[in-house]
Amino acid sequence: MLKLSVNVDHIATLREARKTNYPDPVAAAILAELAGANGITVHLREDRRHIKERDVEILRQTIKTKLNLEMGLSDSVVKFALKIRPDMATIVPEKEGEITTEGGLDLSKSGQRLSEVISLLHEAGIMVSLFINPTPNSVRKAHKLNADFIEIHTGLYAEAKSIQEASEEIERIAGAAMLAKKLDLGVNAGHGLNYENVREIVLIQEIDELSIGHSIIARASLVGVKEAVQQMLKLMER
Ligand code: PXP
Repeated sequence: MLKLSVNVDHIATLREARKTNYPDPVAAAILAELAGANGITVHLREDRRHIKERDVEILRQTIKTKLNLEMGLSDSVVKFALKIRPDMATIVPEKEGEITTEGGLDLSKSGQRLSEVISLLHEAGIMVSLFINPTPNSVRKAHKLNADFIEIHTGLYAEAKSIQEASEEIERIAGAAMLAKKLDLGVNAGHGLNYENVREIVLIQEIDELSIGHSIIARASLVGVKEAVQQMLKLMER
């Protein structure tokens, strides 16, 4: 079965837009679980622009499925992850000022630090996934680094400008997924997946789990409008 981990970062983005205490990503996570999600993902960014420590702490105590913490390699975030012990830590590259994660990790660059962090996470009993581009080289390096999972970056596929470009990306993703399975790695995938482009990804049997955020939260904001307006009108009845 292909699993779904729902990323609730953008519920926190909406909360932070007004610096209120709602909507709460924890409430969204519980609803996602009730709807059948297999896991919840949050990204604790260096700038804490959406998810905060408080969110991850409460999620750890409340959700019944699996908590996947996306994180960079800074000391403070690593320390926090070791304290919270999510079920999985997905290590992602982080660039100051980026709108969203822009690509997979460059595993040749931060090899030493990555190995160190992977060992620390493993010692704390946390599974480790590395967010990588779909290239054989990255998959082999992730395996060498002792990762348990890879998460294949599907962003280039999602942004493809033509059918040809999209199908070339799908081949790369499928190739990376197959190689990862041969190396006994778990295979997650995500970034930019939506209600249209997910169909091709679903056909890749080697993928274990998808991590989807923006499109689900965006859809939720629209399909919930009718109900939300009706509830307000009811309160306004004299
Ligand atoms: N996977 C990773 C590593 C990400 O950084 C993100 C975005 O936070 C996602 C998946 C989810 O992407 P999207 O919000 O486009 O579905």
